[in-house]
Amino acid sequence: MTRPTIGFIGTGMMGQIAHLANYAQLRDRGECVIAGVTDLKASLARAVAEKYLISQVYESDEALLADPGIDAVICVQQWPNNYQLVTRILNAGKSVLTEKPMVGRVDEAEELVALAESKGVYYAVGFMKRYDTGVELAKQLFMELQESRELGALLAIDAHCNGGDWIQNAGTPISVDDPTPLPPLQPTFPDACQTPEQRAAYHYLVNIFSHNINLCHHFLDAEMSVRAAQFRGDRAMQALLRCGDVAVTVRGSVSAAHEWREHLVLTFERGELAIHTPTPLNRQSSARVTLLHREKSGFATTEYHAPVAWAFFREAEGFVQALAGQAPLRAPAEKCLWDVRVMDRIITVAEVF
Ligand SMILES: NC(=O)c1ccc[n+]([C@@H]2O[C@H](COP(=O)([O-])OP(=O)(O)OC[C@H]3O[C@@H](n4cnc5c(N)ncnc54)[C@H](O)[C@@H]3O)[C@@H](O)[C@H]2O)c1
Repeated sequence: MTRPTIGFIGTGMMGQIAHLANYAQLRDRGECVIAGVTDLKASLARAVAEKYLISQVYESDEALLADPGIDAVICVQQWPNNYQLVTRILNAGKSVLTEKPMVGRVDEAEELVALAESKGVYYAVGFMKRYDTGVELAKQLFMELQESRELGALLAIDAHCNGGDWIQNAGTPISVDDPTPLPPLQPTFPDACQTPEQRAAYHYLVNIFSHNINLCHHFLDAEMSVRAAQFRGDRAMQALLRCGDVAVTVRGSVSAAHEWREHLVLTFERGELAIHTPTPLNRQSSARVTLLHREKSGFATTEYHAPVAWAFFREAEGFVQALAGQAPLRAPAEKCLWDVRVMDRIITVAEVF
C-alpha cells in the first residue's frame, strides 16, 4: 500500500482543523487518497467535503466501513464515542487513528489493542506531541545523555500543564445549523469513579494530562507506577509517580492565559533537559528545548531551535507513512494503554476535594 485510502468519521472542529486539513494537503502531494467523510450531521459532512474537495459523503459510519476500498479511518470524536466506534472500525478490518484519550477504561483499552492485533491493522492514538520536532530533538538528546552519562543519572521528571488559550489563531471550523439531535454521550469510567466529583476529576485528567503522562512514557519507555494523587475538583491536580528509581510528578491547573503553558523537565545529577511544548493548534511553533549543563567556565544553558513544524501535520504524515510501511507508528495503542492504566491508578488513589 504506497498510497493509503482514508475515510473520516466525524467532521467536527478538531476533525476539520487538526486532521482533515492536513490529510487534504497530503492528498494534494499525492501521498494518500481521501475516499470520503461521514458525520451524524449530514449537512456538516457535506459542507466540509465541499471545502476540502472530497467527492463522497457516506450516509453513516456503517456505509463508510462497508467500503472495501478504505484502508484506514481517522475517527475524531468526543472520547466517550471511541470505544464503540473503534470496535466497529477494527472489526471492519481497517486501521484507525483516534484523538486522545484512547477510551475511559483499562479493560476497553486492552480489548481494543488485542482486537487490532488480531486483525493485523494499525491502531494509533493522537498524541501528536510525540511528532513535535522539538520533542523529537529532545528525545535524541535524552538518549545520548543516557548513553554518555555526561549529566549523571536521571533523577526526576516534572510534567506540568497549566493550559491557557489552546486555539490562538487557528481559524474557524465550518459549523452548520443542523437540528439533527446527537445521541447522548455515554462515557465509561474506572470502577473507582463513583461520584460526580470523581468523574469530573477523571475527565479533567484524561482530557489534559493524558498528553503529559504519554510524554513521560515516551521518554522513559517503561510504564510508571502511581504513589499518590490529589485533585482540587476539576481545576487543579498533582500526582506522584515513579518509574524504577526515577521520581515523576504530573501536575497542573486550569488557569487562563494567552498561550499554552506546559513543560516536561528531566533532571539529572548534573543538569536539566527542559521541553516547553507549544500551543496545540498553533501551526507555527514547535517545542522549545533547553539543556542546563556544566562547561569549563561554569554552568550554561543551551537553547535548541528545532525546525518549525506543526505536530498535528507531522502526526498525519507519520500515520500515512506507517500505513505505507515506511515508518513505525510513534503513538501505537499498545503503548498508549500504559497511560490508561496509569490514569486508572491515579483516580483510584486520588483524594478529590
Ligand atoms: N490533541 C489535542 O491537543 C486535542 C485538543 C483538543 C481536543 N482534542 C480531542 O478532540 C476530540 C474532539 O474532537 P472535535 O472537536 O472534532 O469533536 P466534535 O464534537 O466537534 O466533533 C465530533 C463529530 O463527530 C460526529 N459524530 C458523532 N458520532 C458519529 C458517528 N457515529 N458517525 C459519524 N459522525 C459522528 C458529531 O456529529 C460531531 O460533528 C476530543 O476527543 C478531544 O480530546 C485533542
